[in-house]
Amino acid sequence: MKHTAKANVNIALVKYWGKKDIEWNLPLTSSLSLTLDAFYTETTVAYDPKLTQDQLFIDDVEITGGEFLRVSKYMDKVRKLYNIPYYAVIHSYNFVPKKAGLASSSSAFAALAYAATKAYNLELDKKELSSLARLGSGSASRSIYEGLAVWHEGSDHLTSYAEHLTNMDDLALIVCLIDESPKKVNSTEAMNRLNDYPDLKELWVLSTKDAFNDMKDAIIENDFERIGGIAESHASLMHYIIQETGVSYLTDASFKVMDLTEKIRNEGIPVYYTMDAGANVKILTKKKYV
Ligand code: PMV
Repeated sequence: MKHTAKANVNIALVKYWGKKDIEWNLPLTSSLSLTLDAFYTETTVAYDPKLTQDQLFIDDVEITGGEFLRVSKYMDKVRKLYNIPYYAVIHSYNFVPKKAGLASSSSAFAALAYAATKAYNLELDKKELSSLARLGSGSASRSIYEGLAVWHEGSDHLTSYAEHLTNMDDLALIVCLIDESPKKVNSTEAMNRLNDYPDLKELWVLSTKDAFNDMKDAIIENDFERIGGIAESHASLMHYIIQETGVSYLTDASFKVMDLTEKIRNEGIPVYYTMDAGANVKILTKKKYV
């Protein structure tokens, strides 16, 4: 009744921002991401009939409070869906800076979904595992796969899952670590603000649908400049939208890195920036330009 699983962080090139169903974590739109091979989470789940509640350790430190509650509530959902009668001791190791906009929740909940079901001898196929990871953190649905993955928005629990799209082995992502401190507003709280801004929400949904279709075409055509351009303008739009709802994740240092990226690009090197719910800037390029 014990299993260890590993999952890697992914970074969205077409972002997920906003939910159409908060309880089931169904997104407003489909999204598309690149899984990174350098950053990952390794999690062991050990069920124990003697326990009266879950126990969580992250990097060997026992976790209580809000972070523990988020995980134990997630485990309650897993237990309910799969009739698992036991609480568990969970040990998780992050090979990624925690909560710094590097989407460590993507790898964390993907590894947890896998370990929590395997430890009970359940063999979920990847689609179902992806749906289960999604319940913990939307972006985790995409961390089930390597390379490029698409998360289909779907209309209910089992139709909202991610699938592997392709591997583009010459892609590289440079993470510019600007700020390792936890983010001020968590992504769920920030994205739910969009519900108070119907016009902004409509603009976001329509633009994201366009960006998603354009990105898929650009990937099929293997057109790196187009892939980078779509990713960059889409990330900028997301941060404009976030800003309009009263949250701001980017700092002066983020803007400096973005400016520098454009400058380097104007000198002829294909580099494109993207940012998530934090100040760090990720630069998409090809391996030969790193
Ligand atoms: O999975 P969450 O709830 O942490 O949300 C992730 C949101 C972004 O990282 C900003 C975008 C994305 O698609 O990963």
